[in-house]
Amino acid sequence: MTIWNLGSINADMIYDVPHLPGPGETLSANRLDRYLGGKGANMSVAAARAGAQVAHIGAVGPDGRWALDRMTEYGVDTRHITGVEVPTGHAIIAVDAQGENNIILFPGSNHAITQGQLGQALSSALQGDVLVMQNETNLQVESAKMGRDLGLTVCYAAAPFQADAVQAVLPYLDFLILNEIEAEQLQQATGQSVTDLEVEHVIVTLGSKGARYYHRGAATDFPAHKVKAVDTTGAGDTFTGYVLAGMDRGMPMAQVISQANRAAALMVTRHGTADVIPDLKEVREARLD
Ligand code: ATP
Ligand code: RIB
Repeated sequence: MTIWNLGSINADMIYDVPHLPGPGETLSANRLDRYLGGKGANMSVAAARAGAQVAHIGAVGPDGRWALDRMTEYGVDTRHITGVEVPTGHAIIAVDAQGENNIILFPGSNHAITQGQLGQALSSALQGDVLVMQNETNLQVESAKMGRDLGLTVCYAAAPFQADAVQAVLPYLDFLILNEIEAEQLQQATGQSVTDLEVEHVIVTLGSKGARYYHRGAATDFPAHKVKAVDTTGAGDTFTGYVLAGMDRGMPMAQVISQANRAAALMVTRHGTADVIPDLKEVREARLD
């Protein structure tokens, strides 16, 4: 089976800072690194490193050739990523000494995907394939509808969180993943808790506490591994990519989530985003508490 990912592609400019800057503050960074990023690209790379066949649907600008090359090198099918005359998306990311971050996003080419491109890509999808979206591209609703009509397993990672974006795709979803804060925000905006949603699979990630899986009225907890976090950027994307790959392979959900917890725990011990996502061998062999 194939995982189709309508997803963002960013240049991540990651600044190592002594603390996260406050309003009006000018802060000198200790270091700057550039990584391949974007929630979409991170998930595609994670799923590919977890052994899945992944086709990414997206757009890069004239300055984005390197990103496309890197995704190809990392095992992602990039034939449905188009070149557009809009600069490639980027993210300015500050990471403090505790591994916490804040992010400024410039969507750029991630909002220039055309309906024709999406339709053409998904015309190759087969019933039972997985389709995933996040809230960093245009065409999320169109994609979700198409996915449902084609009999794909439609998944949504509700980040960056916007209540109306989630609500617009909810009727088409088989699987929703969001973090604890996003789940609270969804409840505040809609009055619905995750247990009220008519979505078959829901995962709420809980950071250093792990993840909770909701299925048919039952909630199951999966504790996180104890590691020293140096950079949590992309942990959620790594987790999601590993979950999608496991589901696509037909693994039992408990095994899928345990493996995703291992991958994400390893990820938080590393600086960077897509380029440093661990592969399946590393995830299986890592000695984790
Ligand atoms: P991000 O936006 O930082 O990528 P997120 O907010 O979407 O992440 P989190 O709930 O913070 O998602 O983390 C996702 C997963 O990463 C968790 O479910 C857990 O498996 C792992 N994780 C995150 N932080 C830690 C930590 N400090 N120690 C171990 N595992 C962690
Ligand atoms: O989740 C991490 C990602 O969010 C980064 O790679 C950055 O590009 C932003 O999209």
